[in-house]
Amino acid sequence: HSEEDSSDGYLFKIVLLGDSGVGKSNLLARFARDEFYSNSKSTIGVEFQTQKMEVKGNKVKAQIWDTAGQERFRAVTSAYYRGAVGALVVYDVSRRQSFDSVGRWLNELHTHCDMNVITILVGNKTDLKDAREVSTTDGKFLAESRSLFFMETSALDSSNVNAAFQTIVKEIY
Ligand code: GTP
Ligand code: MG
Repeated sequence: HSEEDSSDGYLFKIVLLGDSGVGKSNLLARFARDEFYSNSKSTIGVEFQTQKMEVKGNKVKAQIWDTAGQERFRAVTSAYYRGAVGALVVYDVSRRQSFDSVGRWLNELHTHCDMNVITILVGNKTDLKDAREVSTTDGKFLAESRSLFFMETSALDSSNVNAAFQTIVKEIY
């Protein structure tokens, strides 16, 4: 299910998916470096970060891949997905359109990966309380109907960011 890494423990490849601007890169920055960029540019190509984690007392490494939501800036799709055992499909709770795109991202994921790639649906930007366009109930309902894990996060105020990555790594392990 995963690659054995020579130095310590397992290496899990996890991919980030979702429309441009939903906060994929900031979720990764918050998780890997505890940083946030209020004015971040669209990702161009592909970036990844490797993060050491502990699951049930065992050391693992999560290699988290991030690419652009926008087609013209995206990495070569097949290479991006190759070997992935986990995925975070992210939408922005303050932008309904990004939620409506979730089905499309899941289709792309399942075109390139095994059906049983562990997937969590992530509603990001919960700090934007007054601008919310997608309720928690709607998010949960979609997640349940597609058999996905579900979490709402804020990369800005850090809420649930570690928990989202921890959930997926725990389920992969
Ligand atoms: P692409 O690389 O174009 O696919 O976008 P992305 O999904 O990586 O989005 P990115 O992380 O660059 O964030 C887009 C914008 O949303 C930036 O201005 C971020 O500061 C902002 N943002 C990201 N996460 C949050 C959040 O949790 N709350 C708020 N309020 N803003 C956020
Ligand atoms: Mg990005």
